[in-house]
Amino acid sequence: MFKKIVCAVDGSRHALRAAEVASELAAKVGAKLIFLTVAKPIKMTEDVKRYMAAEHLTGSPQYVLDELTEQILDEAKACAHRCGVAKAVTEVKTGSPARTIVAFADSAGADLLVLGSRGLGDLEGMFLGSVSHKVTSLAKCTCMTVK
Ligand SMILES: Nc1ncnc2c1ncn2[C@@H]1O[C@H](COP(=O)(O)OP(=O)(O)OP(=O)(O)O)[C@@H](O)[C@H]1O
Ligand SMILES: [Mg+2]
Repeated sequence: MFKKIVCAVDGSRHALRAAEVASELAAKVGAKLIFLTVAKPIKMTEDVKRYMAAEHLTGSPQYVLDELTEQILDEAKACAHRCGVAKAVTEVKTGSPARTIVAFADSAGADLLVLGSRGLGDLEGMFLGSVSHKVTSLAKCTCMTVK
């Protein structure tokens, strides 16, 4: 059975559902569980500076993003904890989401990748988002797309 499961989370309700399924499965089969978020580095462009000034935001925008990433992973970890997973860890990477998820799962030696069917995108009527579509095509291990 599965020994190492990577579950990709982006803060969407679909990804949270994927985290639930991955956690329940990991608890049942005694697999190690890794939650992965691929974050986007923010460039301090003139637009970002103007937005921050208008909203009276101080500090680095990366800080806000890091806080968000932490929240996403904390939520997933809490889910694993509720399901009784003893070995849930988290990982943050940057890059193109699909390629980074696939490369991470490969290098971690995962035998199952779990994703939501959709994410934070708002294109209505699509059954699969571009990340879940790409990951399913490119991954070397088994993928589960949670609906
Ligand atoms: N940046 C990310 N980091 C980790 N996992 C991600 C990331 N983006 C997407 N995922 C994973 O992929 C699943 C599907 O999200 P996807 O981005 O494909 O859908 P979408 O946002 O609805 O569509 P699109 O991004 O193409 O507009 C999510 O539920 C999550 O499991
Ligand atoms: Mg998306």
